[in-house]
Amino acid sequence: MTYQIAVIGATGSVGREALNILAERRFPAKEVFALASKRSNGLEVSFGENKVLPVKNLEEFDFTGIDFVISAVDSKIAAQYLPKIASVGAMIVDKSSHFRLEPDVPLVVPEVNSHRLQERPKRGLIASPNCVVIPLVVALKPLHDLAGIKRIVLSTYQSVSGAGSAAMDELFNQTRAILVNETIPEDIFPKQIAFNLIPQIDRFYTDGSTAEEDKIALETRKIFEAPLKITATCVRVPVFIGHCLSVNVEFEQPITVEKARSTLQKSKGVFVLDRQEEGGYITPLEIAGEDVVCVSRLRQDKTVVSGLSMWIAADNLRKGAALNAVQILETLIKK
Ligand SMILES: NC(=O)c1ccc[n+]([C@@H]2O[C@H](COP(=O)([O-])OP(=O)(O)OC[C@H]3O[C@@H](n4cnc5c(N)ncnc54)[C@H](OP(=O)(O)O)[C@@H]3O)[C@@H](O)[C@H]2O)c1
Repeated sequence: MTYQIAVIGATGSVGREALNILAERRFPAKEVFALASKRSNGLEVSFGENKVLPVKNLEEFDFTGIDFVISAVDSKIAAQYLPKIASVGAMIVDKSSHFRLEPDVPLVVPEVNSHRLQERPKRGLIASPNCVVIPLVVALKPLHDLAGIKRIVLSTYQSVSGAGSAAMDELFNQTRAILVNETIPEDIFPKQIAFNLIPQIDRFYTDGSTAEEDKIALETRKIFEAPLKITATCVRVPVFIGHCLSVNVEFEQPITVEKARSTLQKSKGVFVLDRQEEGGYITPLEIAGEDVVCVSRLRQDKTVVSGLSMWIAADNLRKGAALNAVQILETLIKK
């Protein structure tokens, strides 16, 4: 059986990657449509190595007969268009944060909670989590099953591609301007990102936390279906692709480093690179383009009765975004 698929936001970072991955993994597509705003009328985007697709205007596109939609646009556009598209019958996987916490919208990472896809979602909408939450839950779910997580303290090192293709341009243009001594362009980020880092992702709340930090806690709890204690500090770093996390986990039950390592080595979607010597860990440059969630620097956290510290990395555009969406579609068609 083959399917009619539409990718919304096909000219953006996540949308382009979704088209790459659909082609790479030979998703059984009868036809694939690339959609974006009317600004992109007349553009073409790649689909696999040899094909290009014309970009069509979302506003004018007729979704009748479309089986699956991957939506990679911001929350405002998702809220405006997706319920209407779902009412025509398409099943939508949404990459925006707009619907993630709604109780009747499953929030899915196939390695962790594919049981949420057993029944067709009532609203025809499935949400794909935040690009930090996906690697976090893929790495921690096997350990949660083993010893029960009590509390997570984490700091993130998030690449600029997490803020879209314009943010990647900003890092490139700022770096170039500094090196050739020109005026530094500033548009997307609240401070210069080149040769710097910024301890703020998304807007501030009145308690001093940010919306990104809140999303990490709320989405992780929804996926684990458990009231875990989670505190996060999110930092944007001058790296193009690849999000990393420094994570301390406190468990209910005893857990050794050896047991955690052997469990993670057997876990779906996880790769352990942890030689505990100079260079024996993952960096963003090495995770870019990869599909796995990589765990390094696994060690005991001696400040609590039962705790582990670790370094987690993933390609935010692939497993953190587009790949997770495609894996959700693959799970749906296997049913
Ligand atoms: N980047 C990541 O690591 C990541 C990870 C997880 C989730 N997400 C989420 O995924 C979504 C897309 O992110 P991104 O990084 O791919 O952003 P992006 O690179 O800025 O791309 C945005 C896309 O949205 C399209 N768009 C904007 N206005 C539109 C409109 N009125 N109608 C139709 N299309 C419109 C753009 O088309 P035009 O080119 O025509 O303007 C473009 O294709 C966001 O909700 C983001 O939060 C991103």
